[in-house]
Amino acid sequence: MANVLLGVTGSVAAILTPQLYQRLREEGHAVRVVATQASLYFFDPCALDPSRPERNPEVIVLDEDEWPGREQGRHWQRGEPVLHIELRRWAEVFVIAPLDANTLAKLAHGLADNCLTCIWRAWDTTRPVVVAPAMNTLMWEHPLTHRHLEQLRELQPGRLHMVEPQSKQLACGDVGVGAMASLDEIIAAVRNAVV
Ligand SMILES: Cc1cc2nc3c(=O)[nH]c(=O)nc-3n(C[C@H](O)[C@H](O)[C@H](O)COP(=O)(O)O)c2cc1C
Repeated sequence: MANVLLGVTGSVAAILTPQLYQRLREEGHAVRVVATQASLYFFDPCALDPSRPERNPEVIVLDEDEWPGREQGRHWQRGEPVLHIELRRWAEVFVIAPLDANTLAKLAHGLADNCLTCIWRAWDTTRPVVVAPAMNTLMWEHPLTHRHLEQLRELQPGRLHMVEPQSKQLACGDVGVGAMASLDEIIAAVRNAVV
C-alpha cells in the first residue's frame, strides 16, 4: 500500500473524483488530492470527506493553500513549509486522473503555474506516475497530444503508466476515443505502478 497523490484537472471526467478517491482508499492506500482550479467546476471538494461540512485541506489541496494569506497581503515566513515540495516528498505515486489537454501540455513543457504542475516539476522521476488522459476525440487525435505524451515518457523513463482513454459518446455529444478510462483500469494501473 502506498501514499497516493491524486491530481485532478479540468475535464468533465473530474466528476468521478469522489468515487476514484474512495476506490483508492478501499485499496488500502493513503490518498491525498491536488485539484486545479478548473477541475472544481466538476466536483465538490467537500464531498471527499463527508464527516466535515467544510473542505478538509489534509484530504484535498487547492492552489490557494500554497499561498495562505496572500490576498490579505501576508508574506511567507522563513521556516514555513512549501506545500508542493511537502506533497512531493509524501507521495510515492502520482496519479493524474483525469489528465486534460491543457495540463498535459504544461507537464510536457515544464510550466509550473499551479500546485499540481509544481509537484510534477519537482517530481523524483524514479517514482511512478499514472496518467489517465481525457479529452475530446479531435484533441486526443491531435499531433500535439501524441508529442506531449511522448515527452512525458521521456521525462519518466520506465515509470510512466498511461491508462488509455476509451471510446464512447463523450459529454460534448461526439462519439469516439477520448473518455477517461474506467475506474477499474485506473485502479489496476496504480496496482502495477506500486509493486
Ligand atoms: C464543460 C467543460 C468541459 C471540459 N472538458 C475537457 C476535457 O474533457 N478535456 C480537456 O482536455 N479539456 C476540457 N475542458 C477544457 C479545460 O477545462 C480547460 O482547458 C482548462 O483551462 C483546463 O485547466 P487545468 O488544466 O488547469 O485543469 C473542458 C472545459 C469545459 C468548460
